[in-house]
Amino acid sequence: MKEDRLWRRIMELGSIGAHEDSGGVTRLSFTEEERQAKNLVIQYMKEAGLAVREDVIGSVIGRKEGKNPLAPVVLTGSHIDTVPHGGKFDGALGVLAAIEALQHMNEQGIETDHPIEVMAFTDEEGSRFGLGMLGSRALAGTLTLEQLTQTDEQGLTIVEAMRRAGYEPGKLREAAGNPAKVKGYVELHIEQGTVLERNNLSVGIVSGIAGPLWLQFTLTGQAGHAGATPMNARRDPLACASEIMSFIYQETRKVPNAVATVGKIRALPGGVNVIPEQVEFTLDLRDIDESVRNQLEGKVRAYAEQVSREQVIQLEISLLQRVAPAPCSSEIINAAESACQQAGLSPFTLVSGAGHDGMQFTDFCPMGMIFVRSREGISHSPLEWSTPEDCQAGTEVLYHTLFQLAQAR
Ligand code: GLV
Ligand code: MN
Ligand code: MN
Repeated sequence: MKEDRLWRRIMELGSIGAHEDSGGVTRLSFTEEERQAKNLVIQYMKEAGLAVREDVIGSVIGRKEGKNPLAPVVLTGSHIDTVPHGGKFDGALGVLAAIEALQHMNEQGIETDHPIEVMAFTDEEGSRFGLGMLGSRALAGTLTLEQLTQTDEQGLTIVEAMRRAGYEPGKLREAAGNPAKVKGYVELHIEQGTVLERNNLSVGIVSGIAGPLWLQFTLTGQAGHAGATPMNARRDPLACASEIMSFIYQETRKVPNAVATVGKIRALPGGVNVIPEQVEFTLDLRDIDESVRNQLEGKVRAYAEQVSREQVIQLEISLLQRVAPAPCSSEIINAAESACQQAGLSPFTLVSGAGHDGMQFTDFCPMGMIFVRSREGISHSPLEWSTPEDCQAGTEVLYHTLFQLAQAR
């Protein structure tokens, strides 16, 4: 396998949607930047000798035929959308490593019994519409037309954004795969945490993925003059929101593995000397144990309702997405373990704190992941980094895993 080629592609793909000032990358779904990235991935897939197609939700698929073209397909890949000002590796590495593994097989004339397909899934991050994993949900057959009514910051629905990008949302069902025709899904991704770094390991195998719950809080009070309205005569939704946020952080800190993030906040109308009329903020709440996450959610909801009632603030909590934590399948974990040994690495398993497309496949096909060490665990940031050597080591493990899964037994 060619480390130089993989690295050159990571850097080249990472230049699409790159910001000169921050060094970050922004590629939101159904935008021009995302289209350019897809076109480049299509070019790489063709260079790798893969047959390329795009499904109705816009996921790009590159296929290496099997000796038995009717055998269930082995799926791999990741996503090529990013968060705002994200990094060059999150998602992109999994797609490019998979292309590299299959290009190597083709260059060496290596055939497999089962076909293998590289997926570059549409919108894993959910940054534009507050609903992520669109491509993987569509493939699993769980994405609904109702979910496509979620909107971006401009109020544009997913349906409308799809139409503007040349897709036909009415054909959504056509993206759904048949589980009987899929052997499994294995994704390579950067760890986005510090476990591998602390253990001095370049590659790890994922045992399970923590699930994100996304809520949007909208608090409505009374706008007013910042100088002339006494503190006891206000209905300030931001004061109320700040108490809810403090509660969220305090309660989450008490739970060992839970994490909570308020990542988006908006005060309207937004003036230095204006008491806001309305405040919106999002909550991203996760745990590897769904019942722990549910308990925490219940506490947050009850507290939010109580303080907003006391402060005469109107409160609305809407659900953006609720993704269940997902265990990885033992079949894929076992294959990845022996792949590590073939690559001269000791197998090491860890949990994923971040969400991934594979979570959509728990009821669809066996699913698993291979992680590559992240520098200082930083991700969703321009500082996201993995070394060329670690990317190469992960790609080798992916290669051996795919080869095993694609052999008839
Ligand atoms: C995706 O990166 C997520 O975990 O939110
Ligand atoms: Mn990702
Ligand atoms: Mn991400």
